[in-house]
Order: sequence, then structure tokens, then C-alpha cells
Amino acid sequence: MNLRLDKLLDKLLIDKSQSEQSRLNQLQSERSQPGRMQSNQLQSERLQSGLSQPDQLQLERSHLGRMQSNQLQLDKKLLLAPMAGVNDPIFRSICKRFGAFLTYSEMISAKGLEYGSAKTFNMLSYEENEPPLAVQLFGKDPKSLAEQAFQLEQKLADSLALIDINMACPARKLISKGEGAALLKQPQLAARIISDVVNATTKPVTIKIRKGFNVNDDVAVQFAQIAQECGAAAVAIHGRSAAQMYHGRADREVVRVLKHSVSIPVIATGDVFSSEDIRSYLQDYNADAIMIARGAQGNPWIFAGLKPTFEQRIKIAREHTLRLANLMPRRLSSMRKHISWYLKGMPDASAIRKAVNSCVLLSDYEKFFLQIKAGLGQ
Ligand SMILES: Cc1cc2nc3c(=O)[nH]c(=O)nc-3n(C[C@H](O)[C@H](O)[C@H](O)COP(=O)(O)O)c2cc1C
Repeated sequence: MNLRLDKLLDKLLIDKSQSEQSRLNQLQSERSQPGRMQSNQLQSERLQSGLSQPDQLQLERSHLGRMQSNQLQLDKKLLLAPMAGVNDPIFRSICKRFGAFLTYSEMISAKGLEYGSAKTFNMLSYEENEPPLAVQLFGKDPKSLAEQAFQLEQKLADSLALIDINMACPARKLISKGEGAALLKQPQLAARIISDVVNATTKPVTIKIRKGFNVNDDVAVQFAQIAQECGAAAVAIHGRSAAQMYHGRADREVVRVLKHSVSIPVIATGDVFSSEDIRSYLQDYNADAIMIARGAQGNPWIFAGLKPTFEQRIKIAREHTLRLANLMPRRLSSMRKHISWYLKGMPDASAIRKAVNSCVLLSDYEKFFLQIKAGLGQ
């Protein structure tokens, strides 16, 4: 990462609002009810100091000297955005190694967790170098989201950085149920969800939104203000409407507008493919942090501001494959798309894509890597 950028990425402070301490006290007494005794003990020990261990360390490291409890200190500002079907634990771990300050899970169904779905629980696994990680939940039932936020904190403890609520996903399977971006049409319900989740956890709670639901909707300011009033620690904005999907260019101006409308940090997402895009969001639009999604596919080097050689791309693609095969053999077929992304732009790209698409077993992938290495004369 170049020095200027490193400076820019210094010190993002996500504060929970001042009223947090009173809510925490209330939470502490509510959770001291019988039946929740064991987890409460842990919880209240942490609440007494007001800081989890990483929070404590981060606070000590910061030069800001702010003693308010329950802060999440982010001193770098490039985040791996949540990506369903892409952000497996190995990919997140690699992005972290290359400098992503925080890595987000795939969006996780609160109902899936509630019903004990093994597939959903698998999405919560992580590698050693990743924590603390950001977990994104989706759903529309405030109770269910709040309960799962509480459970997540119990399970992940200090490994959990924050809980993000998905109000951005335009996929039909979510919006047909009133989830994801469909919540942008329901500000009251959204407010209830945020408040309930904030009250259920001592971790920072954030929301991720699009500009609006229909093409010309613009509810970003309204939702950012709702989020702030309800105690959210930050808002992530993708400057497109849900109806736009990925068409057109992401509106960056909305980031500047949000920065003038709320005091909580504004995280920008949308069309970040280069160091220049990063610079622009940070300097021209004053974003507090940037989430990178498609620009990180096959390109974890974006977090380091580096351009990889072909050899480096092959090396990381192979590492990703071997580690994923070991951790989640059932997800191995997802390596086809990852490898195509890692090797995009290499000579004979279309032949490479064809070859990778015929890989099934780990041994097929190994043969594939041997062949392309041989092609590079290695
Ligand atoms: C394959 C894929 C999966 C995504 N999954 C999620 C998700 O689970 N939750 C979410 O909030 N956004 C999701 N997004 C949106 C991204 O987080 C991001 O906001 C959006 O792609 C714009 O950023 P980009 O231009 O850097 O890709 C996804 C995007 C892609 C491309």
C-alpha cells in the first residue's frame, strides 16, 4: 500500500453513540435473568470493563486518547465487502493477509441460524488470521435478527468485530420475502430492526444500503439518519438503486451527501477497481472507509495496492484451491470461478477458462496448475 494511502487509511473510529452506556447497563441487568446465567456471566465481565480484549488493545494503540467504552477502532479503511457465494473463509483469509482491515462474511440468514441449518452455520467458520470478522445478517423479523445477533456475540466473542444488517441485496429470493433491499421500502420496520439488534448486542451494529429500491428512489439520507438515531455505528452505501442491479455507474455523490447528513462513519461501496477509485472515494467524497467487492475477486492484491505477476497469481490461486479443498471439500467447484478471476488477462485466457471448467477433483486442479506453470516455463 503506498504511503499516502496508508496515511489516509489511518484511524477510522466507529463509536457507538453516547447513549450506548445506558443501553449496556440495561442490557446487563436484563441478561442477569435466570436461564441465561452462564453466558451472562461472561457477558457481564466484559460489560464491566466495557471493552473486549481487541477493543482494549486497539484503544491502547490509538493515539486518540478517547476513553469511551465499546469502541471499534479501525485504523485502516479497506474492507472486503460481503459477497454471497464468493467470500469463503480461505478467500477472506487471503484478503486479510493482503491488507483488508476487515473482512465480511457472506450474507447469512437469521432464520437459517435460528433453524440450525448446518450450511448456514458453516458460513461462520474462519481461519486463524481473520478475526475479528464482520458478520452480515439478513432477514426481516426484528426478533429473529436480534436473537441471532445476541447468539453470534456469544459464539464468536472477541472474534466478532461487528454485525452488519443487509438492506441492500436486490436478489429476487430476498426481496420477494421483504428482506434485503426490500427493507428500503419499509423505514419503520428497518428502524425497529436496527434498534432491536443494537439492543441485543454490545458489538457495533452497521447497516448496508443501496440508494433506494426503485430506479429513481433516494432514501439514503433517510436511512442513514434512521440508522444513526437507532444506535448504528456506521452505514455502508452502494450508490445504485436495487432496481439498477449493477447497471450504470455507482453514484459517488451520495457518499458526500451522507457525510453531511450523519455523524456516524460512512463506508462507500460500488465500482472500486483501482487505487484511483480508492483515492477518489476517500479524498473527493470524504468516505470514512471503502468496501471492495468485485475488484477483489481474483485480486486480493488490491488491498495492498500491488499488481501481481502471473506467477504470483498462479501461486495464490493454487493456495486458495488447496486450502479450500482441505477445509470445505464440498465447495471445491467454486474454485472454477475464483481461478478464472485470478488468471484473467493471462495469455490463452479462454483456453485456461475452458480447462478450469472441466476440473472436478482436487487432482484435476493440481494437473491444471502444473500445466499452466509449464506453459509459463516454470
Ligand atoms: C457475487 C456478489 C455477491 C454479493 N453478495 C452480497 C452480500 O451477501 N451482501 C451484501 O450486502 N452485498 C453483496 N454484494 C454487493 C457487494 O457487497 C458490493 O456492495 C457491490 O458489489 C458493489 O461493490 P463493487 O462495485 O466493488 O462490486 C455482492 C456482490 C457480488 C458481486
